[in-house]
Amino acid sequence: MTQDELKKAAALAALDYIDDDSIVGVGTGSTVNHFIDGLAGRRIRGAVSSSDVSSRRLVALGIKLVELTEVDSIRVYVDGADEIDGSFAMIKGGGGALTREKIVAAVAERFICICDASKRVDTLGRFPLPVEVIPMARRH
Ligand code: A5P
Repeated sequence: MTQDELKKAAALAALDYIDDDSIVGVGTGSTVNHFIDGLAGRRIRGAVSSSDVSSRRLVALGIKLVELTEVDSIRVYVDGADEIDGSFAMIKGGGGALTREKIVAAVAERFICICDASKRVDTLGRFPLPVEVIPMARRH
């Protein structure tokens, strides 16, 4: 299988954890893009998105966006990772959406990480991470 096929397989496997009529937390990245495509075939109530990129894809597929401020809870948050070690510690943020990802993940009862085997490392720390500038904070 190609790397993209492996990403897609991981993403589609996560659909097993999605209940009908639920609000789903959605991460960011090329693996999550496959998950979003799969979500389009499911009967969910809506999605809380972790980035503008994911929001655009969700909307394009007819999935309703829900603001985090509108929900009491999120049962499942699905997102990718940049590196994962043997103890399941991981590095995220390579897509530049870490702040929102962490907030949505913190609200969710369960975090399902979807990734292909290339993300597995012995020691974390080789993946270059972007510095995120939050618009409200950039002047300071
Ligand atoms: C986004 O900030 C990251 O944490 C992503 O979860 C990660 O970069 C996803 O990688 P893929 O594009 O390989 O799914």
